[in-house]
Amino acid sequence: MKKKVLGTLLSVAMVASMLVGCGGGEAETAAPAATDAPAATEEAPAADAPAADAAEAPAASGGKKVGVAMPTQSSERWINDGANMKAQLESLGYEVDLQYAEDDVQAQVSQIENMIASGVNCLVIASIDSDALVNVEAQAKDAGIPIIAYDRLLMNTDAVSYYATFDNKGVGTAIGKYIEENAGLDPADPKTIEFFMGSPDDNNAHMLYAGLMEVLQPYLDNGALVCKSGRTSFDDTCILRWSQETAQQNCENYLTGFYADEDLDICATAFDGFAYGCKAALEGAGYTDANWPMITGQDAELMATKNIISGKQTMSIYKDTRLLAEKCVTMVQAVLEGAEPEINDTEQYNNGKIVVPSYLCTPVAVDQSNYKEIIVDGGYYTEEQLAAE
Ligand code: BGC
Repeated sequence: MKKKVLGTLLSVAMVASMLVGCGGGEAETAAPAATDAPAATEEAPAADAPAADAAEAPAASGGKKVGVAMPTQSSERWINDGANMKAQLESLGYEVDLQYAEDDVQAQVSQIENMIASGVNCLVIASIDSDALVNVEAQAKDAGIPIIAYDRLLMNTDAVSYYATFDNKGVGTAIGKYIEENAGLDPADPKTIEFFMGSPDDNNAHMLYAGLMEVLQPYLDNGALVCKSGRTSFDDTCILRWSQETAQQNCENYLTGFYADEDLDICATAFDGFAYGCKAALEGAGYTDANWPMITGQDAELMATKNIISGKQTMSIYKDTRLLAEKCVTMVQAVLEGAEPEINDTEQYNNGKIVVPSYLCTPVAVDQSNYKEIIVDGGYYTEEQLAAE
């Protein structure tokens, strides 16, 4: 920990009250009513989206229609997910109704209700708050419409047939291991760390936290890592609806409240959006290349990858949304055409009602040393996209 000379330490209690977390529950930031919901968008802008790896010959889909409900277009990853799903399903001859709900829980419920009413044959859902979908999922089941959970597990329902995702605990372990291997963790030279975890209504966020802490807790216990805010629990560090603004605000408050006398060395964040928020807070607080902390993220968004190249973000977790879409499409074909879906996990994803048969894609940590090999050679972004201003 590098000591700073200047700065006044605010009282912990004062700062704690300034911090915006999600311990206070959802009511505080509840989404606006459905009537205020932004219009759903049909077409995802595909300009920066990785090319969809569409299958070639359309199969006998019999004009069936698939409703794809996505959470938001505010983060690039979901734009790519939607674009890939639409392209891959259409290439197989399915009609696709793709809707984004802009993180408005009620809007997502309405979109799914409309899909059911319009006679979709199958639903693919990446939920905002899966508990809020229990009733509409039961409606789908009653109407004989199978549901596939996309990326986020649909909790407390027996209406879901399959789940396509990444190894969510593995994402947390990969972030933890990256910190373990690259931050020089040594009780004789402690490093300061703050945590920015995902949304409490997203099962992925809990699993990521569990994986991360499995690796980092021993270092918090032996003093190699010091969290000066004291906020290390999931409840204290989770950020409702994965809000970048809240991450920035929390980081600003941590820097003002706890890091006036010494630098923050590590921002352990669960999402590229949080990494952007931390970057803005750190720039605002006068951090430069000389004391820039390690910043982790998730999704390897285009902006995050550019920030990795420029050194403003240290790493991210690459999740190939083309592959996820491909696995999800095999599940759609399974429920609609009786094909065999690819499954590689029948144990981990108990949603409170059933254990959902799942396919887990493997997340990969990327940084300056391997982004070319993984991301550019893998055809996810081109050098031109990464070089563009
Ligand atoms: C996804 C992450 C994503 C986050 C925020 C999670 O459910 O698994 O990839 O970063 O949502 O959108």
